[in-house]
Parts: sequence; C-alpha cells; structure tokens
Amino acid sequence: MTMTRSAWWRQGVDFQQVPRMLTDSPGPESLQMHARASQIIRGLSSQVKLHPVCFREGFGVVMKDVDGNTYLDFSSGIYVTTLGHCHPKVSEAVAKAANTLMNCHDFTTPVKTELLEKLVEILPPGINGVQLYDSGTTAVEAALRAARAYTGRHEFLSCYMDFHGKSGHAVSLAKMNKVNGASRAEGFFLVPRPYPYRALFRKPDGEIDTDAYIAFYEDFVSNVTTGQLAAFVVEPIQGWAGSIMPPDDFFPKLRAFCDRHGMLLIADEVLTCMGRTGKWLAMEHWNTVADISTLGKGFGNGFPVTAMVAREEIKGAFDLISASTSYGGNPMACAAALASIQVIEEEGLLENALRLERFFLRRMEQMMREHPIIGEIRAKGCLLGIELVKDRATKEPFDEAGKRVYQKAFRKGLAWIPAGHILRLSPPIIMDEEIAAKGMDIVDEALFETERELGY
Ligand SMILES: Cc1ncc(COP(=O)(O)O)c(C=O)c1O
Repeated sequence: MTMTRSAWWRQGVDFQQVPRMLTDSPGPESLQMHARASQIIRGLSSQVKLHPVCFREGFGVVMKDVDGNTYLDFSSGIYVTTLGHCHPKVSEAVAKAANTLMNCHDFTTPVKTELLEKLVEILPPGINGVQLYDSGTTAVEAALRAARAYTGRHEFLSCYMDFHGKSGHAVSLAKMNKVNGASRAEGFFLVPRPYPYRALFRKPDGEIDTDAYIAFYEDFVSNVTTGQLAAFVVEPIQGWAGSIMPPDDFFPKLRAFCDRHGMLLIADEVLTCMGRTGKWLAMEHWNTVADISTLGKGFGNGFPVTAMVAREEIKGAFDLISASTSYGGNPMACAAALASIQVIEEEGLLENALRLERFFLRRMEQMMREHPIIGEIRAKGCLLGIELVKDRATKEPFDEAGKRVYQKAFRKGLAWIPAGHILRLSPPIIMDEEIAAKGMDIVDEALFETERELGY
C-alpha cells in the first residue's frame, strides 16, 4: 500500500506546525523536570546528556515536550518505535492484553501461540525455534548459551565496534572500556570486520578485500583460539558504531567460514530486525541465514519484547539451557509483537522502508555534494548514517561537528541520536517523502551552520 494523506499518523496533525518550537529547547519546564530527575537518576546516555528534553507525548512521527514544543521524531526512541508512537492497533492490542491477563510465566496463551506461528511464517524457511525475552541483552545471552549447549564448545568470535548489550558476556563480545569492568570473559575474542570507508584490507584496485578478512579469521582461529569455537556473533549492520554496512560479499563468505569450522553464525538483529532495514531480518539483504538470530527493539514497537530464533536442528538446545524468564513472552509483550508484525504486513511497510531508503540516499548524496565535512553517507531502509570528517583526504573523525549538528538540529525540532562523528538517524518506517524531507532539511541547516562556525 502506498502511503496516503489518510495515513493514521497524519490524522489530527497539522504538519505545517511540525516541528514547532515555542521555547528554546530544552525549555524551562524540561530543564526543571530533568534537574529533579537528575537528583536521583544517574547513568544517562549521551542522547539525554547533550539535550535534556522532557517528553510528554508522542503520536506517529511527532513528539511533544513539557514546554509545548513539537518535534519530528527521527530517533524512534532508540531504534525502537519503528512504526511510530502509539499505533492504534499496537496500543489497543497491549491495552486489551493488560486488561485480560498479565503474566502466566511460560505457559502459552492464545496470543503467544499466534505470535510464534506468525514469526515462523515470516522468518526464512527452516527457522522454526523461538524463545521470548524482555531485553535485547537477555536474548543475546540466551543465544550464547544455546550455541554452547548445541556445539559443546565454549569460545566466541565477534567484531570490533559491534554492540551486543551490557551484561557480562554481552560486553565481552564488544569493545572493553573502564565501565565494562576489568576484563573480558574467558573464551571471547574480537576480530576486525569490513568497514568499507575505513578498510584494513584492500585489493590493489582500492576495493575492500573481504577475502583478506576471512583469511585473517582463519589465521586467528588457529593461532589465538583453542579452535573450540561455538559461534561467530555479528551485527548485520553496526548500529551503535554508526550504521556501518558490510560489503555485499561479506556475509556469504562469513557463512562459509563458520561452516568450515563447525561454528554457528549468530546474527544479532536486535537493532536491525522487523522492517528497520526494509526486510524482516537485515541478513536477507545478503541472502544469508544465520543459525541463531536475536530480535528486539522494533519487535514490539516500544513494548519490551525480544526473541532468540533458531534453525530446526538447534532449537533442541533451548531445552538444555533453562531458557524461560519471568517476563519473556508475557501476554502484553506477545500482543505488541503480533500487532506490530500485522501492521507491517497490512500497511506494506517493508516496501515503504525501501522506498524511503531510495529517497534518503538521493537526499544525502545531494548533501554530500554541498557539505565538505561529510565523508560518507549510508542507508539500508530507515537505518541511516552520515559520517563527518575534518578532511575528506585524511578522513579524520569530526566529533565536535557531530555534537554541534546533533544539538542544533534538536533545537530546531528534530529528535534524534548522537554518536560522536557519525550522525545516526532512525526515522519510523511509516513516514512519506514529504516528512522525510522535512527531517533532512533540518539536518542540512544544522550542517551549514556548523560548517560556518567551524570555518568550512
Ligand atoms: C545489536 C544490539 N544488540 C543488543 C542490544 C541490547 O539490547 P537491550 O538494550 O534491549 O538490552 C542492543 C541495544 O542497543 C543492540 O543494538
């Protein structure tokens, strides 16, 4: 279905007034509310620290703060509300479940059974084992335990700059820093992955050399690990690192590498699943099926529901790891996930995300021609990245520019996500080109102003 003027998220919203700033942002009420909360809460993300707004409500692609300012939402929370805020069908499904039955541990319910069957229908053939969780991290932990149970091996490979969550093992799959504790858990090893803009290995013609990465992994397995590898864990697209896309030939080669070594391929699709990139799973872009995938964020469009899904042969391992949890698969969660999938199907949103990708790419290519500080632009569906550099020749990351563009655009009414020198955008996949253009106009203006300030 093509997006029309009658789309639910347009009803009752005057887009001439979006965004609309009545005060500076963050406004006085926001700052006061933030100050009160900050007396008590700690550990806030840079998203909040750099721009401490207090939001009151959201509808579709619009958010409002307590000062009455209206924002266009290009963050989806944090890659979560892929279908926008308060989709009537999702909200009604959650409300109905909340008024019917809230928790019955891992007994099934009609809505859970329906969700499980629906998932198996939309996932690649052969993926028919599912267990449900309440955070991305817990699903990743479960995937690691299932891989160990299935293979009888204990080691893991994962990639530089991937992110998999904040529990002990999840941080061991990623970059260590002082907040992650003193050391990586035993048996966890990191390897570089192809980053086309900043490749470690290139062919003589300058193309990124994916074979060289695989050759490096071969060497690494024999020289650094004991060879007892349970799985290679990977984000299909690196979200937190800055929407970094792999070269098209990487995942088929990685799949073959895992098979050669008898290790599983675990795709952490917490951020990329359920339409964010225009497919149910981002791995579908590269015709690669992982043995286990983790789903989260947009899966319940805001309701905390996540999953580990696996191939037929592997699902038996779920029985070996005591896979259930207190909240995993509760009726409200299942209702949110099921309704979200139905909405994506009914409203043709996978196709819409791909349509928007083409629009965003065109628009960002135009921006790249006009802004010397843009080094690279990237998009898959509605997962976008704009990499800022001080100099296109040296590619030196431009963190100061990234911070200024984030804050300026937010002040103009764009709610979005900061990440050092890479601008990360995660607009809801429901929007149309007119609204997509509004958001990009704001980024464009913020870039011009930042370049002027910084002497470009
Ligand atoms: C790829 C990936 N895996 C796992 C997680 C952890 O998910 P959660 O924050 O729901 O625990 C995230 C969160 O950003 C993520 O992006």
